[in-house]
Amino acid sequence: MKIFLDTANIDEIKKGVNWGIIDGVTTNPTLVSKENSVFEDRIKEICETVKGPVSAEVVSTDYENMIKEAEQLVKISEHVVVKIPMLPDGIKAVKKLSSMGIKTNVTLIFSPLQALLAAKAGATYVSPFIGRLDDVGNTGMTIVEEIRQIFDNYFYETEIIVASVRHTQHVLEAALAGGDIVTIPFGVLDKMFKHPMTNIGLETFSKDWKKYQDYINNK
Ligand code: E4P
Repeated sequence: MKIFLDTANIDEIKKGVNWGIIDGVTTNPTLVSKENSVFEDRIKEICETVKGPVSAEVVSTDYENMIKEAEQLVKISEHVVVKIPMLPDGIKAVKKLSSMGIKTNVTLIFSPLQALLAAKAGATYVSPFIGRLDDVGNTGMTIVEEIRQIFDNYFYETEIIVASVRHTQHVLEAALAGGDIVTIPFGVLDKMFKHPMTNIGLETFSKDWKKYQDYINNK
């Protein structure tokens, strides 16, 4: 399973990349707006740091302008993936960009049928938003299972990025549901390392090793 960081914060991305477990990054207008940086410069810096797929989102909602924005975005780096909102014009843009060899990530997916349309148009990735579905009383992960089944039934190569992840349980469920990728906030990644039994075990090992060394030194 590939792990992407869902952030535009360069320090978090550097930390994750340094651990050697980050395959890519997703950003969105909200995440970028939290950073005091020029959008294009930050995307470039992220691309140079992660050297893998980096989703940068268009803000237009009409076909012509989405294409124009996409053409500018891919000039930033070979790693840029153009994030396109799930709209009829967005799907039309994905079809065009796919024919131009430009990678796309269809965002704001809330149903398996939206994912099917994106895959048909040739999207490289689809991003179902799990946490936001949970927020409105649905079980978000169900759509990941359904998208997985549809893509497997018809051999679509579009990869599923499980997005809007709020906690480690989402990551576990995404892996069990067959998501190709999970994109997570840095805080969730950090928590994935942790288990109290690991700390207790480590403490015991170090105490016992110290006792053993004292015994050897006093022999
Ligand atoms: C995915 O690409 C989005 O950036 C993200 O996962 C949205 O998450 P949120 O619902 O926590 O804002």
